Amino acid sequence: MSAGAPFDLSLLSRTARVDDTGRVSIGGCDLTALADDLGTPLYVYDEDELRARCREYRVSFPGGAAYAGKAFLCAAMVRLVAEEGLDLDVASGGELHVALAAGFPAERVHLHGNNKSTDELRRALTAGIGQVIVDSGDELDRIDALVAKESCDPPDVLVRINPGVDAHTHEYLATGVVDSKFGFPLLDDLAFDAVVRIADSATARFGGLHAHIGSQILRREGFAAALERLAALIVRIEREVGIEVDEVNIGGGLGVRYVASDEAPTIAQHAALVREDFGAAIERAGADSRPRLSTEPGRSIAAPAGVTLYRVGTVKTIPGLRTYVSVDGGMSDNARPALYGAQYEAFVPSRATAPRDALVTIAGKHCEQGDLLVRDAELPGDIVPGDVVCTPVTGAYGYAMASNYNKLPRPAVVFVRDGVARVVVRRETFDDLLRSDVF
Ligand code: LLP
Repeated sequence: MSAGAPFDLSLLSRTARVDDTGRVSIGGCDLTALADDLGTPLYVYDEDELRARCREYRVSFPGGAAYAGKAFLCAAMVRLVAEEGLDLDVASGGELHVALAAGFPAERVHLHGNNKSTDELRRALTAGIGQVIVDSGDELDRIDALVAKESCDPPDVLVRINPGVDAHTHEYLATGVVDSKFGFPLLDDLAFDAVVRIADSATARFGGLHAHIGSQILRREGFAAALERLAALIVRIEREVGIEVDEVNIGGGLGVRYVASDEAPTIAQHAALVREDFGAAIERAGADSRPRLSTEPGRSIAAPAGVTLYRVGTVKTIPGLRTYVSVDGGMSDNARPALYGAQYEAFVPSRATAPRDALVTIAGKHCEQGDLLVRDAELPGDIVPGDVVCTPVTGAYGYAMASNYNKLPRPAVVFVRDGVARVVVRRETFDDLLRSDVF
């Protein structure tokens, strides 16, 4: 898109509408009015978009789809996922607690983590969760001890494999390379030995294999390479252990479009490609097993459904250099630009069709020069304090990674649908900031 062109509305979710004056609504709710009524910063989710994306995964992966709660989790999201029929992947005792407290069926919960504590495993096992994705020998020792001590049923386990492949994403988001803290590497038979141990175990049931190679992946090759290696392992398991493999979970990782120039496959396209690559890998390897192919997406469900609203506080021009437009949030509500150099677009929801003829830097309010939300944002040149600014595609790993840095209260989360705005997480108060202090 050329400089100065209006904001690319295709980055917004499916119920987004723009009226004749350029005002944007989502879920039938005017964004500027939401900011006025509920305050800023504000996370706004298009509930129809979240639901539609869950459904697309359910249809595209008949072998199973679990929503990865780490991307965005609160009680309302837990209920939405339950209603849409997906399973839920939790990665800590805290995520498990939120899931169970919100009434998610334990048998549809999967527990992840490279360092699950005994307490986390105990809660999961005694609640009767559906699957534990085991990540280390130490974890298997803990499961052995717990099943013996608590006399709970042996859990179904998937073995997390580190397939040693490059996912072609940001270094911090790549989890399937050989040098990773996650999973059992294929090197030196470590993965195979873990499968043998579980197959022989009386305290765990072998449910299959798992590989999550990274996040924000836009290319097919990494998934294909991982599936190829898993297929080879499956054949070895069949021949040397004498069992078939029922399930292969390819993890999450599908990337999304953050800025207008990005291209990303749809959920259905991604599913078709990995299913094709998996089928071909199984054929080539000569495996007898026909494992169901499952997945656990986070970002590709939550990110495109969410936007963040901020209010501009100051506009400061450094002559000849740059204009800083400072807003009332920042790295505490969206750490991704500071952490990964992530790029976003921005627009003014009261005049989204106006030419964006100013190149500015949208800065947060934190005491760090690195607290820049959008380094080179195109905004209308008449931007002034008091305007509301919106960053789209902020539904994943924004609220989830929010902090109270500089003692900023965390923003509210609102679900919008059919003209109704439902606050699902209230804004924190200053008193919340003292909640855990011991005076
Ligand atoms: N499964 C496992 C085992 C994972 O570790 C993850 C993400 C997922 C599924 C979901 O992946 P997704 O579909 O969301 O790509 N904070 C980073 C992303 C970290 C991803 C961690 N694991 C970011 O903001 O980009």
